[in-house]
Amino acid sequence: VERAWYRRTTREPALAKLVTATQARTEPFHRWLVFKQAFSPGLVRRFLDTAAHLGGPTGDAPLLDPFSGTGTFVLECARKGVPAIGFEPLRASAFVTRVASATSFPPLPNLDGCSSWQEFAARLTEPLHQAALICVIASQQTARGELNKNAPPIIDALRDQAKTMEDDLRTPLLAQNPVLPGDGRTLAMLADASVGGILTSPPYLSRHDYTKLTQPYEEVYAFWHGSATETDPRKNQLPAHGSAPTARRRRSTDPAVSEIVETLTMIGEKRWSRTVGAYFQGVFDSLRTFHRVVQTGCPCWITIAGSRIKDVYIPTDTIVAEFATTIGFNVKEILVARDVTRNRRRFGSLSGVAPRESILVMQTT
Ligand SMILES: C[S@@+](CC[C@H](N)C(=O)[O-])C[C@H]1O[C@@H](n2cnc3c(N)ncnc32)[C@H](O)[C@@H]1O
Repeated sequence: VERAWYRRTTREPALAKLVTATQARTEPFHRWLVFKQAFSPGLVRRFLDTAAHLGGPTGDAPLLDPFSGTGTFVLECARKGVPAIGFEPLRASAFVTRVASATSFPPLPNLDGCSSWQEFAARLTEPLHQAALICVIASQQTARGELNKNAPPIIDALRDQAKTMEDDLRTPLLAQNPVLPGDGRTLAMLADASVGGILTSPPYLSRHDYTKLTQPYEEVYAFWHGSATETDPRKNQLPAHGSAPTARRRRSTDPAVSEIVETLTMIGEKRWSRTVGAYFQGVFDSLRTFHRVVQTGCPCWITIAGSRIKDVYIPTDTIVAEFATTIGFNVKEILVARDVTRNRRRFGSLSGVAPRESILVMQTT
């Protein structure tokens, strides 16, 4: 699989800054809540400007990001007046994206005497104010999910956040693009052939559980809106890291995935073997669903990264490209944005190979 597709990859180093969140820190709306795993609004603009057959034959079918995160896709579409819809199980992220469709920022209430986030939360009833506190608590975490001891006092950070949001809302969004709770693997709410294009980035296989970083501000959201009961947002997560809880899974019929799963089992990494099997099962289920909901001929771009887990090379982009072809996608290009590690090694007859972060440019046939 790797040999067949490797030749068809195109390196485009300029894409490296589009597959990371860096740009989001300075752009209106996107700077409210910056997620380490986000892609950049520039990637959305490239999709809107260059993807062929967007919106289907009538040109107005809504676009979709089934793994919405902090809503980079739906927000950027909304800034351009393009109808789009997102799905995201993490409730605080979806909430912040939703409230961005307001047209002005109401003045903060009297917050004198508040010190802990719970005391602030108790005084905040306006959704935009609640979103501002969620963003502040998110920004006070270190990259490891601990409280940053040098973070400014909540009151100062909240006033700054309110000012940023107020400034951005002076140019309100041009479309109301919803982000719904839901599972990107099934999209049960969406009818067949109902969307006019997809740009998305599912979670990447990784040693780190990035959902841990969202826990502190998910807790803030739960202060007003209750804990998730029937649908625990973390249970809906596509299993993507070593400690992910994985239910019994179907045995993969994909030869490349089976080879990885068997190798991991053979070297005693049973837990990783289960996670990797469940991860690809989730990604493949998502691809089948994307094929079901997208109108024929419309674009489907997927940002995805490979990894090296316990020294086992996992070329996720080429594995997904191969699978997508078997279910009726035309994979037009694999654009390689960057190597995920500097460490290049021999892999079979290929030399100098490293896991890549790539964009699969596909179209339904
Ligand atoms: C790589 S991030 C996407 C980031 C997004 N592109 C952005 O710019 O913020 C993957 C997202 O998928 C979400 N996710 C995980 N499992 C999911 C599922 N089964 N259905 C929908 N979303 C899911 C995660 O919570 C995470 O926010």
